Amino acid sequence: MSVKQKRVLIVYYSFSSQTNNLLVSFSQGLEEGGIIVEWEQLKPIAPPPFPAGSYLNALKMMVLAFFKNRVAIEPPDIKKSDTCDLIVCAGPTWSYHPSGPMLAFLDNYAVEMFQGQLVQPVISCRCYWRLHLWEMKNALRGAGIRFLKPKVFPHPSPGVWCALGIFLKLAGKMPKSCRSLFLSHCPRFGHSPQQIDAAKDIGRILANRLLEGSLKGEILE
Ligand SMILES: Cc1cc2nc3c(=O)[nH]c(=O)nc-3n(C[C@H](O)[C@H](O)[C@H](O)COP(=O)(O)O)c2cc1C
Repeated sequence: MSVKQKRVLIVYYSFSSQTNNLLVSFSQGLEEGGIIVEWEQLKPIAPPPFPAGSYLNALKMMVLAFFKNRVAIEPPDIKKSDTCDLIVCAGPTWSYHPSGPMLAFLDNYAVEMFQGQLVQPVISCRCYWRLHLWEMKNALRGAGIRFLKPKVFPHPSPGVWCALGIFLKLAGKMPKSCRSLFLSHCPRFGHSPQQIDAAKDIGRILANRLLEGSLKGEILE
């Protein structure tokens, strides 16, 4: 007798490739664990440029994100969720909130697409993710969705240097005068190779739990 393979749908947005890098590795772990993985990328109608090109544009983007500015997206393929056993909803934190494209998705499509499903949140961030998660859950309350405990990936560089690094990367600028000082504290932007590897292990563990039917203990109240 043939056993139906489990399917995981990854719905995601990634602005500067960090979430995407994690998900590539995470999905390999799922696939190695015997899961069929499908993807749905949230695509802004007018994608914000990366980098933003100037300090002012970077600042503007952060301020708009702070006020939860929605970034309109192309309609996703809602039907993709019909045949899946689990949905991964992944993306970066922007100024404490879900990103602009994710907010647009939550407003317009997520209830219909995620209705009654089990959802695994995956968050890529510098360090602040709790409000992001709460807002995501809040936007979907009443839709019969069960959330698993989030998989959170904070950038590994220390506090203020990481924040400065993200701002400079977003602006696409690096002042020559403080370049070496900066790089000595924040040698790389984004997630470390170790985190990328860990994402694969996390995917493999999730695959096992999904196949065993033992995800109940991971569900958030
Ligand atoms: C406009 C903007 C605002 C951000 N605000 C936050 C924040 O409030 N808290 C945080 O932890 N990270 C913040 N970040 C950092 C991103 O969450 C982080 O760099 C993430 O890894 C980016 O993922 P992505 O490349 O998939 O878009 C912000 C990044 C941008 C571009």
